[in-house]
Amino acid sequence: MTDQVSRIAERIPADFGEVIRTRRSVRHYDPHFVLSREEIRSLIADAVLAPSSNNLQPWRFLVIDRKEDKEKLYPIANSQKQVLEASATIAVLGDLEGYKRVKEINRIAVERGYMTGEFAAQQAERLLASYGARSEDALRRIVLIDGSLAAMQLMLAARARGLDTVPMGGFDHERFIEAFRVPATYVPIMLIAVGKAAAEGRPTARLPVDDVTVWGSF
Ligand SMILES: Cc1cc2nc3c(=O)[nH]c(=O)nc-3n(C[C@H](O)[C@H](O)[C@H](O)COP(=O)(O)O)c2cc1C
Repeated sequence: MTDQVSRIAERIPADFGEVIRTRRSVRHYDPHFVLSREEIRSLIADAVLAPSSNNLQPWRFLVIDRKEDKEKLYPIANSQKQVLEASATIAVLGDLEGYKRVKEINRIAVERGYMTGEFAAQQAERLLASYGARSEDALRRIVLIDGSLAAMQLMLAARARGLDTVPMGGFDHERFIEAFRVPATYVPIMLIAVGKAAAEGRPTARLPVDDVTVWGSF
């Protein structure tokens, strides 16, 4: 097993190892550091390469980068200072009706030769029927998972560029929805502050792998 683990580790590029090992939740940012909207778009472009249930990509992003919007968010996000100091806070949202865009997604796939028109049409009808029959709770669970994968990828994309982030679940969802006029079908998943660290994140402990892993069956 050890040999296999080391063989796999060798295949991971060193810079990826550095990205995942140096990511920490950073709560102090240089308030003068500006991230351009182009740079933020490139983070999101990396985030949306994440996998999603049936590739339906129900994640949506609200970028809060203007001073007045940061000030509006601050009390809603439990007065967490990073909201004011970071270059931007990106709200990751999940669209409960995101599956309705399946034909649009499939059209792009057909144009690129990833699937035939016939398959695209059949698959779209099948997904529209199956997702349309799901309860709101089931759809909510799906978008929370998909959105969280994109959120993680966004944080790693930021770290790979020398930026830092902190995910935040500590905010008032109802007030957030109202203040930022979030559409009724969108579920807030988490906020991610992103910017240039003014102080390093605190090291945090992890449970040993063997304490959180079971092989084969419980
Ligand atoms: C879903 C989620 C919600 C979180 N909410 C907050 C938050 O509201 N404020 C905060 O300062 N950190 C928040 N964190 C960051 C965690 O405290 C942090 O990830 C954890 O302590 C591990 O530290 P690390 O990210 O530096 O590895 C959150 C993390 C996650 C995954």
